[in-house]
Amino acid sequence: MQNKRVYVKSEAGRGWADTASNDPLEMAATIQPCCFPGFLQSWKITVEKYLQPFQLSPETLQEVSARLRKDLLRGLGKHSHHKAPVKMLPTFVRATPDGTEKGDFLALDLGGTNFRVLHVRVEEEAQKVLKMDSQICAIPQEMMLGTGEQLFDHIATCLGDFLESHNLKGQTLPLGFTFSFPCEQLEIDKSILIRWTKGFNCSGVEGKDVVQLLKEAIHRRGDYHIGSVAMVNDTVGTMMSCGYKDQSCEIGMIIGTGTNACYMEEIKNVKRIEGEDGRMCINTEWGGFGDDGCLDDILTEFDVEVDKTSINPGVHIFEKMISGMYLGEIVRLVLVKMTKDKLLFKGQISEALGTRGLFETKFISEIEDGLENAKKILTELGLDWSLVDASVVRLVCDTISSRSAYLCAAALATLVNRIRNNRKLGHLKTTVGVDGTVYRKHPTFSSKLQKAVRLLAPQCDITFLVSEDGSGKGAAMVTAVAQRPAHQSRLLEESDGEDNEEEEEEEGQ
Ligand code: BGC
Repeated sequence: MQNKRVYVKSEAGRGWADTASNDPLEMAATIQPCCFPGFLQSWKITVEKYLQPFQLSPETLQEVSARLRKDLLRGLGKHSHHKAPVKMLPTFVRATPDGTEKGDFLALDLGGTNFRVLHVRVEEEAQKVLKMDSQICAIPQEMMLGTGEQLFDHIATCLGDFLESHNLKGQTLPLGFTFSFPCEQLEIDKSILIRWTKGFNCSGVEGKDVVQLLKEAIHRRGDYHIGSVAMVNDTVGTMMSCGYKDQSCEIGMIIGTGTNACYMEEIKNVKRIEGEDGRMCINTEWGGFGDDGCLDDILTEFDVEVDKTSINPGVHIFEKMISGMYLGEIVRLVLVKMTKDKLLFKGQISEALGTRGLFETKFISEIEDGLENAKKILTELGLDWSLVDASVVRLVCDTISSRSAYLCAAALATLVNRIRNNRKLGHLKTTVGVDGTVYRKHPTFSSKLQKAVRLLAPQCDITFLVSEDGSGKGAAMVTAVAQRPAHQSRLLEESDGEDNEEEEEEEGQ
């Protein structure tokens, strides 16, 4: 048997060791970041005090995964759903692509700082989803916090300009609308915004049907028409766009400005949906995990501060530990504290370091990518750094991005384990479609996540497929699949009462 390098912790200290063990927990020890390069050894004790709360042991990650497993059940329950922090929203997507889809579609993609309009062609013969044209429209900060009417008028204007400049105004094309916020979807074209996330907070939209708001804005202009509309979360778009290439893609995951995942669940387990047969894609909205306090024991003082100063305090706690909107700020707060304690930058906080939001998440990727980048960024932030400072900053970035990757791995492990149990399989082979800047751009995030999920879900063999233009092409794909004949599903009325969760408890977990 071949030896592997594992990271071990013992009373004597921590370090890498060679072992031939196949014990998942022992191997799982490798998912701890190896933090201290030789010349930083003397700093170890001082620095560890700040970083240790971010280092989650394999046992803790397994515990996080188990807690999420319970929350998935609460979200799926007919009675427990309305109090569940992980919303488990039915998407009315009942099938992944089967390769027969075709046609021309429009796609709108709203969810980050930019809004995009796309013209997409799905070609059956070539088994391809082609992006014919696309256009980006910036959404100014004021608009993200303005009225809903202003936002939807802006969207309708961007779409109108696009149709005009691409000679599409005379056609009535079906439209896939990727709207990447938690929505209670009543039908494929009826979707009520539960709440804004990721820095958006437009008035008059929460509680309303966003498809209706879009149609009204288009109607106010009156100069073009659109065909049938399919509403899509970006996770669903990502799963569907990868699903055209790989038909075993049954999970979509986003780790970008926000984080979330969707997966194919057995309809009989979705107690809020009428019917027993087949599967439906569930938008988990796992960003809300922890909103009931169940992750309080692993939150650091920095997470608490990030939440407190966000525009939506108390909600999307898991997202705030993981996603691009928040990681930079967590790092900044740690660096500020270390500097105040005279451990960094000769105790001098520059104006940029002292300002909320100015340490961008992309700096984390760049800093971890190389010491030279770290020096450059620290200089640009107006800091008087030493070589040790630059190395400690890299360590801080590594620790916080690693925690994010491991937490995502724990959550993804919950989903794949659930799918495996649902199907009563000893071993599951599946594909996850992934997108998001953190996953794509960070130098080691994807490999850490993949390694950790393998250890946390050893009976699952997962292929990760990075989605190209998932939100846009996937929305077209959902629209195409929605046109296939399928039996209708209906959301049941909510009521108070008890769900028989016992019944659903899975074996072997
Ligand atoms: C939203 C999700 C979305 C995710 C990734 C979260 O803030 O609630 O709906 O999928 O961000 O964009």
